[in-house]
Amino acid sequence: ALLDSAPRPLTGAQVLVTAGPTREALDPVRFIGNRSSGKMGYALAQALTELGAQVILVSGPTALPAPSVAHLIEVESAAEMHAAVMARIADCAIFVAAAAVADYRPKQQAPHKLKKHPDTINLQLVPNPDILAEVAARTPAPFTLGFAAETEALETNARAKLERKGLDMIAANLVGGEQGGFDRDDNALLILWRDGQRELPLMSKQLAAREIACILTERYGASA
Ligand code: CTP
Ligand code: CA
Repeated sequence: ALLDSAPRPLTGAQVLVTAGPTREALDPVRFIGNRSSGKMGYALAQALTELGAQVILVSGPTALPAPSVAHLIEVESAAEMHAAVMARIADCAIFVAAAAVADYRPKQQAPHKLKKHPDTINLQLVPNPDILAEVAARTPAPFTLGFAAETEALETNARAKLERKGLDMIAANLVGGEQGGFDRDDNALLILWRDGQRELPLMSKQLAAREIACILTERYGASA
C-alpha cells in the first residue's frame, strides 16, 4: 500500500540512462576495458523507474541481473553505445550518463587473433565520441546528468566538467581510494549544479541512486 501511494513525479517522462563499462576490441578475443561494474547506473535506472519514468537503459557488459526498466539495450563498444543513444535521445526528456565510456579505441581492429612476437609492440589509439557532450549540445537538449570519476581535486574538476560539457548536473566521486566508487557497493558523492551543490556521505549505491534521483527530479522540475 505504501508503494502504491508513493509519489511518482517522473510519470510520463522518458529517461535514457547509460551504464557499465565499454569494451574496445583489439582483435576478436581481446579488448581494452575498465573497472566499472555498472552498479551505479543500474541503481539509478531502478530509482528513476520507481519515480515513474520510462527508462531506456543502454548498458555495456556487466555481471548484473537485468533490472526492471522499460527497455534494456546491451552494447559493447563506445561506438555502439553512441549509436544506441543517438537513435533514441530525441524522445527523451532526461539523459543520465553513468557509463564509464572508454575515451579511446584501438585505431585498428585486427580481423584475426594477434600473434605474439619477441619485440615490443605499439598500440595506436584514436579518440571516441563524447556521448554526453554531444547530447548536451543538442537543440533542444534533454536535462543532462553526468558523472565524474576523479582521483584528485574533486570539486574543481567536476565543476569544470559541468561547465565544459554544458551539463545541468554532475555527480562526482573520488576513485582509486577508500572513498568508494568503481567496483564497489558503496559510494560517496558530490552533486553539483549551476548554482548549488550537495554532499552525499558514503552509502550504498542503491541509497545514493535514490538521493540523486530525488535531486534530479527537483532540478529537472526547476528547469522546466
Ligand atoms: N562520457 C561519455 N562519452 C565519452 C566519455 C565520457 O558520455 N566518450 C560521459 C561519462 O558517462 C560521464 C562523463 O562523460 O558521465 C564524464 O566522464 P569522465 O571520464 O569523468 O570525463 P571525460 O570528459 O572523459 O574527461 P577525463 O576522462 O579526461 O576526466
Ligand atoms: Ca573519460
